[in-house]
Amino acid sequence: MNNAPLNVVVLAAGKGTRMHSRLPKVMHPLAGVPLLGHVLSKARQLQADRVVVVYGFGGDAVPSAFAGTDVKFVLQEPQLGTGHAVQRALAHLLLGGNTLVLYGDVPLTRVDTLKQLVAGSRGLALLTAALDDPAGYGRIVRNKAGAIVRIVEEKDASAKEKQIREINTGILCAPTAKLGEWLPRLENHNAQKEYYLTDIVALAIVSGTRVSACQPADNWEILGVNSKDQLASLERVYQLERARQMMKEGVTLADPWRFDVRGELACGRDVFIDVNCIFEGTVKLGDGVKVGAGCVLRNVEVGTDTEFLPYTHADGVIAGNHCRVGPYARMRPGTRLADHVHVGNFVETKATEIGDGSKANHLTYLGDTTVGRKVNIGAGTIVCNYDGANKFRTVIEDDAFIGSDSQLVAPVTVGRGATIGAGSTITRDAPANELTVSRSRQTSVPGWKRPVKKEKK
Ligand code: UD1
Ligand code: CA
Repeated sequence: MNNAPLNVVVLAAGKGTRMHSRLPKVMHPLAGVPLLGHVLSKARQLQADRVVVVYGFGGDAVPSAFAGTDVKFVLQEPQLGTGHAVQRALAHLLLGGNTLVLYGDVPLTRVDTLKQLVAGSRGLALLTAALDDPAGYGRIVRNKAGAIVRIVEEKDASAKEKQIREINTGILCAPTAKLGEWLPRLENHNAQKEYYLTDIVALAIVSGTRVSACQPADNWEILGVNSKDQLASLERVYQLERARQMMKEGVTLADPWRFDVRGELACGRDVFIDVNCIFEGTVKLGDGVKVGAGCVLRNVEVGTDTEFLPYTHADGVIAGNHCRVGPYARMRPGTRLADHVHVGNFVETKATEIGDGSKANHLTYLGDTTVGRKVNIGAGTIVCNYDGANKFRTVIEDDAFIGSDSQLVAPVTVGRGATIGAGSTITRDAPANELTVSRSRQTSVPGWKRPVKKEKK
């Protein structure tokens, strides 16, 4: 029975004046993804056969943000109402089957809710909701038997109709062929001189089409974004849902209200996440991983029992088991830590591999560096990898010891078991198992007097 194609039309032509932004409304990010991206992902999860987005403002900004997808973009200019918008999409729909209408600025509708709506639409199916404050929405008018007879917009509603608490969310599903019959018959004789999509309800009834309604499990599923305030509220709704899901899977969150995922986060067992962390891109945390307060992890994959101490920033990092990073460490793309590695406070790494059991605990820069096993890198060690034009690699072999406040001027190799004396500037390879030191010898000047200020006359 379900071989009939499913079309999805996304209405996204509204200007979004109240966002006070150059960015078209549907391009504002929620959890790091444009509002429209959330809606298109629902269409994908529903396995829609055709997706058409009706856009209006911002020139090519909206279509070009989704270039390379098989979504069709149709310009609606001028915007003469929701009925007019769907009509603009008609020519692009696959014949037969159903058409689901979504709003580009309503990002959080559950896929299950939409599935329920589509499954119920042998006729016209409306997603409705009962709201304590229905102001601003179209109201669902039912007859005494409880059957839907029409939708009345707030601006056209009588005082009595305004008391109806069941509202039209705007999301609906209809047989595509019927839409093709009804839409050209819409008229704009109403308070806003617009072609209302909602008027298809009355047309459906006249044509003997069944009109039904279903409701979402949670009312936030139907909320749209018209202002920064509403955007922020929906962001919190999204994040709290995400947090609850993670806790259900066994992750311990210090505070589910202070948890932000802007991408994908996968956690093993017994993961603990403290407050105010941000996860971006794809993050995978192994069993027993601890993430301290205020960490920002982006495209990070770590093994078992590794710990991020507070305020660590990691981007493009793969780390093994039992590592300890931070507090206040910055690991940049291309950082690879083996097992039992320590990267401490105010240490920056980039394109650097660090072998098993090695430590760089304080105030260090390691860029374009290969560090072997059981290496100790002293406080204040700087790898000079850049001459202003080109970058060079530094190799520090197993069991080396780099004394504090040393500079390693790349390209350079510190041999296995070598020791670098504190305060050295190393410009040539340091041989294995020897002490290399390049600082000048300490001298003292006997009888030297510190200058004193001359008295002014
Ligand atoms: C519409 C419904 C109303 C419902 C409400 C839910 C109609 C006539 N009314 O109200 O019953 O309670 O949504 O929020 O359908 N859009 C276009 N082109 C247009 C006009 C609108 O693409 O010409 C898009 C907007 O970008 C938005 C959506 O359609 O995503 C709804 O438009 P909006 O003006 O917010 O809704 P209303 O017409 O007030
Ligand atoms: Ca509106």
